[in-house]
Formats: sequence, structure tokens, C-alpha cells
Amino acid sequence: MINKGIILAGGTGSRMSPLTKSVNKQLLPLYDKPLIFYPLSVLMLAGIKNVLIIVNKGQLAQFRKILPENNNLGIKIQYKEQFKPNGLPEAFIIGEKFIGKDNVALILGDNFFYGQSLTKTLKKNISIKNGAKVFLHPVKNPNLYGVATINKKNKVIKLIEKPKKTSSNLAVTGLYFFDNKVIKFSKTLKPSKRKELEIVDLLKKYKKSNNLKAELIGRGGTWLDTGNIQDYYNASNYIAVIENRQGLKIACIEEIAFKNKWIGKKNILDAIKFYGNCDYANYLKKLI
Ligand code: DAU
Repeated sequence: MINKGIILAGGTGSRMSPLTKSVNKQLLPLYDKPLIFYPLSVLMLAGIKNVLIIVNKGQLAQFRKILPENNNLGIKIQYKEQFKPNGLPEAFIIGEKFIGKDNVALILGDNFFYGQSLTKTLKKNISIKNGAKVFLHPVKNPNLYGVATINKKNKVIKLIEKPKKTSSNLAVTGLYFFDNKVIKFSKTLKPSKRKELEIVDLLKKYKKSNNLKAELIGRGGTWLDTGNIQDYYNASNYIAVIENRQGLKIACIEEIAFKNKWIGKKNILDAIKFYGNCDYANYLKKLI
């Protein structure tokens, strides 16, 4: 069972400079809310109430302003700083104390997931006891991502980070479920040629012990990249189209908490006050 989640929200955001020169990428708007709301909503939809957010050194105050530890979401949020973007597996070294003896989910702060069966898929996999689970999604340009090849039983048989050539179109998305061995394995990793600890090397440790499984987010689900400016705006437009058609918000974190019965009317009223007079607060008013 996984009851803790880490959001890795550091990084230089260099591909989005100058937007990211003074603001962390995960605080930039993805349509009508900060990018970080989207990965946080995924953890909340999975039922995770204990969250560690890892941010760049010196950026704690910015994040606390929008997601305070003392929040209206009925969840526990803690923060830790990463001194340099030393790679994704460093999350488990920085988060060792937070994880304790538990299993843990990791979601990258810039990943966007959406789709009818998303919550069902998350809930189905959250009960993982041993090993690791990756979530795969077909893409046209797999060379930009970690790429997995799977067998008929959804076992990962091959993994490559940003391969020049590949016969698989299944990208490894930025959502991972791990058992507690993840701390031990992360500590044994060595930096790659680009001087980072690589998530693929960590996953390979699980593969070696025959303990790496995959879940497919098929074509009915959506996983969007927010890596460069064009992708960012495409994702923003996607959200705008859906929200304006349905009148329902994607990744309204208070709505998820309210529907999960983690918070009541009073918290929604406090959140309305917190956000002030805006479209997001008007949406919250409709919930109660
Ligand atoms: O998005 C999925 C992809 O994420 C996977 O398919 C790849 O296997 C995985 O390596 C990763 O690739 P990226 O090239 O997209 O990773 P990037 O360095 O852009 O970092 C992703 C997010 O994690 C971004 O929001 C910044 C944050 N980050 C990254 C590093 C390396 C940190 O907070 N700290 C870090 O040390």
C-alpha cells in the first residue's frame, strides 16, 4: 500500500527560460492554476494524504505561499530543498526520513495526466506491496523520454533513457510507485554521463530482481508534456477547451479533497477567502 507521495518540483526549467529565470517552472500557470496543482491532484486522486514537495534551494517561500503546510486540503504537506538538480532518484535520498518504512509514489512536478479511468487506474495500483510500477503512455516521439518495452504480462523487459532509435512507442511517464527498497537502491546509483542520477538506472535495479511492472495509460487517457514553451501552451489550451466545455475544472485540489471527504464546507469557505475574488474561487462557491 502506498500512502506517501513525493512531488519533485525543482529543476532549472532551462528550456523555458526566460520565463523560469526568477520563477520555478512548477509555479507558472498551466491555463488557470499553477502547474504544481496538476501533479498534486494526481496524488490526491490516488488517495495519498501525506505529501513531500521537493523544491530548489531558496524557493521554499514561493511554494509555501500557494501551498502552505497548514492548508485547506486535509492533507499533510512538507517541504525539502534540493541543492542542485542532481537527478530524479535523489528525491528518495532527500526524502529518506519522510518515507521512513513506507512505500512511496513519485510524481514529477511538470507532468499532466487526465482521463476517464485515471482515478480507477491509480486506485488499482496503490495497493502495491513489493517492487516498482511505472505508468506507460504511447507517444509519437519516444526518443524524448524514458522508453519501455513490455511483454504480454506487462512486465518491463527493456528500458532506455531517451534512445536515438527504438522499436517501442511507450514512454515512461513521470509517475512511479515504489516499495521501500527505493531508498537503498537510490543510494547505490552513480551519476550518468550528464552527471545526474538517472531514474532509468533505478528502475533497472527493480527489473534485475524481476520486480518491475508496468501499467498502460492507453489512448483513452492523456499524458501531456510541459517541457518546452510550445508544449506548455498546447497543454494550457487542452485544459481550457475541456474546462470551458464542461464547466468543470481539472485539478481543482479543494474539489478533490471535498469529494474525498477530507475537508468540509468551512475549509472551502477558507479557501475562497484565500484565493480572493477570481474565477477559481467562484468555482469553489458552486461546490457548496
Ligand atoms: O516526464 C517524464 C520523463 O521525465 C521520463 O520519461 C524520463 O525517463 C525522465 O528522465 C524524465 O525526463 P526529463 O528529461 O523530462 O526530466 P527533467 O530533467 O526535465 O525533469 C523532470 C522534472 O523533474 C522537472 O519538473 C524538473 C524536476 N527535477 C529534475 C531533476 C533532474 C528536479 O526537481 N530535480 C532534478 O534533479
